[in-house]
Amino acid sequence: DPSNTPYEALGGEEVLSKLIDTFYSHVSNHTLLSDLFPKDLTETAYKQKQFMTQFLGGPSLYTEEFGHPMLRARHLPFPITEKHADAWLDCMQKALDEMEVDQIVRNYMMERLTLTAHHMVNQPTAP
Ligand code: HEM
Repeated sequence: DPSNTPYEALGGEEVLSKLIDTFYSHVSNHTLLSDLFPKDLTETAYKQKQFMTQFLGGPSLYTEEFGHPMLRARHLPFPITEKHADAWLDCMQKALDEMEVDQIVRNYMMERLTLTAHHMVNQPTAP
């Protein structure tokens, strides 16, 4: 049932869009992360909105436009350590808290995103 998904529980397109914009405003203010990302996050935020829509059970917008996500492969050009994963997750947690997303949805999203974020790690943390 497409009306019974985490995507709908979150609030659909409008809430997701605000959430991702809030998330990237934190990313751009985070020195460790902002070094990895382009200065202009417009395209990045757009792709993330398309991806997160399908990640949460909504329509497969990312795959329709860009093909299979292959997220780990797409992240290989960027040196990502456990510290980056934790920083990414902190930015997302902050955005979810500020948007006052329903606690059950918040916990569900953070649980799944924690797994995905750690899966992106491709470099040991410098000693
Ligand atoms: C793209 C960093 C985790 C989803 C990117 C880009 C960077 C990046 C630098 C390229 C931005 C651009 O050139 O536009 C990171 C770091 C992470 C992380 C440091 C920490 C672990 C995640 C997670 C997800 C994700 C957990 C999914 C839930 C995406 C998507 C793209 C992307 C969908 C766009 C891919 C494309 O089509 O080019 N990420 N990312 N990332 N990231 Fe991440």
